[in-house]
This record gives sequence, structure tokens and C-alpha cells, in this order.
Amino acid sequence: MSSRGAASGEPGRAESGAAESGARESATAEWYRHFGTVDAPGNSECYAAWSVGIAEDPELIRRIDEWPHNKRQPLLMLAAARFLGAHISPYPGFRAFLDHHWEDVSRIVLSRATQTNEAGRSATLLPSLAQIAAAGGRPLALIEVGASAGLALFPDRYGYEYDAGAAVTRLVPAGAAPGSYPVLGCALSGPVPLPAALPQVVWRAGIDLNPLDVREPDDVAWLEALIWPEQDFRRERLRRAIAIAQADPPLLVAGDLNDQLLALASQAPSDATLVVFHSAVMAYLDAAARDRFRGTISRLAVERGCHWLSNEGHTVIIQADGSSVVPEMDESRLRGRFLLLHNGNPVAIAGPHGQSLEWL
Ligand SMILES: C[S@@+](CC[C@H](N)C(=O)[O-])C[C@H]1O[C@@H](n2cnc3c(N)ncnc32)[C@H](O)[C@@H]1O
Repeated sequence: MSSRGAASGEPGRAESGAAESGARESATAEWYRHFGTVDAPGNSECYAAWSVGIAEDPELIRRIDEWPHNKRQPLLMLAAARFLGAHISPYPGFRAFLDHHWEDVSRIVLSRATQTNEAGRSATLLPSLAQIAAAGGRPLALIEVGASAGLALFPDRYGYEYDAGAAVTRLVPAGAAPGSYPVLGCALSGPVPLPAALPQVVWRAGIDLNPLDVREPDDVAWLEALIWPEQDFRRERLRRAIAIAQADPPLLVAGDLNDQLLALASQAPSDATLVVFHSAVMAYLDAAARDRFRGTISRLAVERGCHWLSNEGHTVIIQADGSSVVPEMDESRLRGRFLLLHNGNPVAIAGPHGQSLEWL
């Protein structure tokens, strides 16, 4: 079975890249066509047009198929071109850009990965974080696994605008000047337990296979390139979140989350409530690695009173072993959204970029 990136644009996987005989498109061409006709429309008309253009361009498909399988994903290739300066344009202009810059596009594709860091997801995690802090009567120590640049580690430094239709609830970080932080908008439905104030975070740390460094201009440029061309509001939000992280860079450990979690958790202050959380990460792990992670979480829950928040979608990648990233809820109910679990129990369905929160 072939599978592809979901609307969040994060990596998927197609079958063999080898061209099939007859009129059928190669798997890579199919992957780009799917991205261009299913994932991109509504998010980026430019990416939709470019991706369909690539799907219908056998020479480009041949070049893309020279890359290792996990490097052929549309978002990675398109972000590499954007990183190198490709502007919104009709496909022929983009094609000419690729011809001029193909070696550089290849170099970026081979050296980078899709590591979209979406600060907006903090809006969907915040109510649960505040509940945990209130129940424990202590401030929070946060560990994000698969943290990218760690922008979700600052839920106490962002502003929030929760729109429940009849009423809008605004939360702002204490003492921060307006305009100095991103304001994360989120449409609510159901009885979302909104806090009266932001929870206190006394310690924050992350783990990533390849942590991005907000002090490195190239890493910042890559984070910007991963945002789809027309989504200026996300770019603006990213810039503000990066400025906050630059002022107080988070502790980020390089390595596999399963190898690093226990050692990092042992560094968290014991007088704070530890929360381990993740968004858009479990799809990168196979079932055995996810089981190992859950085992570690169970151990931390018993030994440390640790809480676990999982914010994941079904279809970012379908694993080769056929296992589901979110077995608790079927895809027809999620429809491209994420399931938020607190200690393994479903609590909400969240917009993949934090734009909505439906409490269950
Ligand atoms: C799609 S990004 C999401 C980043 C962040 N969680 C967010 O929501 O903005 C997934 C991140 O998980 C990281 N990752 C994937 N597998 C990992 C593993 N086994 N251990 C640590 N990090 C991993 C990737 O490097 C990438 O930065």
C-alpha cells in the first residue's frame, strides 16, 4: 500500500520509486499528484500547481528518483527550492528555477529533513498543561520529544485567543509587551477547560534526532522554508516564537527519543510536575519504537508521577508494519486532525496546526 503526507505536509512514503509500465504514473509521480491535488489545495495553490506540474514532468521525476526513498517527499523538495529563493510563480517559472539550481536543491534535500516546528500547537496543548499544573498544585517541567527547534516548549510565553463562537477568551503572558509574543488563535468546541491564567513552567527541555538551533540563521531560514508559501500568518507566528526562543534558548538534546528520555527526565527538578509531550512525531517511529516509548512513559508515570500528552494524527505516515499511530480513533472521525491523549486517554481532537480544539 502506498501512503503520503497528510495536509500538515509532513513526510509520507510511497511505494517503489521505479516507474511502472504502461500508462500508469510512477509511484513518485503519483505521490506528487496526490500532494498537489489532495494535500496542498486550500493550503497552498502554488504548491498544488508545482506539485501537479512535477507529477507530469517525467524528467524531473527521473531526477527525484535518484534520491533515496525518504528524500523524495514533495514537501521536502518544495521547501528546499523555497529555501534557495524560489518565489510563488506559475509552474514554468518554477521549472526554470529548478533547472538553474538543481545541484543546490539536491544538496539541501539530502542534508535536511521536514522538521516543521509549529508553535500554534501550543494552543491545543495549553488547556491540558494548565489542568495538570492546577491538579498537581506545582509548576511544570516540560520535555518535548521530537522537538525540532523547541518552539512548543514556551506555552507560558505565548498569547492565546480562544474563540468559542459566543465568547473569545484571551490569555497573555504576564509582564510581556504586546506585540512581543505570538498570539495563537484557536476555535473551540465542546467543554474545553480553559484556565484563567497561563501555567508556570520552571524547566523545559527537548529531544530531537536533529535539533534545530534558533541561533543559527540557516536553521531559522529552513524553518521558514517549511511553511507553505501563502501562509504568511504562520510565518509571522513562527518569527515571533523564534524571537522568544532566541532570548532564552531551550535545552535540546540530540538523539533518539527512546535513548534519551530517561536520562533527560532525571534532570527535571523534582519539585515540579513533569509532563512529556509530543506532536506530529510518532509517525516517524515504527510500532516497536512506539511500544518502547510507551513503556518508558509508564515507568516515568510510576516512578516520577509524570504526565503524558500525545498530539498526533493518523495519516502523516503509514508505517510499513501497517500499525496505526493513533489506534484510539479511526481516521474518518479525525479527518486530517490530531487526537490529543492525556495519559493515554482521548481528551480532544485538535487542528493539526493548533487552529481548533474539540473537547470530547
Ligand atoms: C514534524 S516535526 C514536529 C516538530 C514539533 N513536535 C512540532 O510539533 O512543531 C517531527 C520532529 O520529530 C523528530 N523525530 C523524528 N523521529 C525522532 C526520534 N526517533 N527521536 C527524536 N526525534 C525524532 C524529527 O527530527 C522532527 O524534528
